[in-house]
Amino acid sequence: MEKTFAIIKPDAVSKGYTGEIISRIEKKGFKISAMKKIKMDKKTAESFYAVHKEKPFFEALTTFMSSGPAVVMVLEKENAIAEWRELMGATNPEDAEENTLRKDFGKNIDNNAVHGSDAPETADIETRFFFADIECV
Ligand code: PPS
Repeated sequence: MEKTFAIIKPDAVSKGYTGEIISRIEKKGFKISAMKKIKMDKKTAESFYAVHKEKPFFEALTTFMSSGPAVVMVLEKENAIAEWRELMGATNPEDAEENTLRKDFGKNIDNNAVHGSDAPETADIETRFFFADIECV
């Protein structure tokens, strides 16, 4: 079994999509091994996204991610990293395939509903950023 780290972003939480997204996650066969609602402050968002600090979208991304509550999760499944990215869809909801979460719940590239780790190392780093070992069952 592989684990990945996921976020239901502030846009999706504020629009009341949390339950529907969790339901889609479970229907796809992921086990939720950790989950909690958090509210990042700007510094926390800047730290979480530090790898993107030179990107032109860094300010917009960290302002958005600290704009309201989000739900952070650890998802477990065979091939979880790739399968979660497939369920999320393309970064820009306009490019996302039908039946993906970003197509169904994202508005644009700034408000794209969900986040997922891109590799085992980042999944581990991102999980440890938000969760203690005791919270991951
Ligand atoms: S990159 O440059 O390929 O590493 O970037 P990418 O993986 O596509 O995106 C990294 C995260 O930045 C968000 N993003 C943006 N936010 C706001 N505005 C613009 N233009 C923009 N472009 C990318 C994107 O949603 C990714 O966020 P996460 O939380 O990782 O999904």
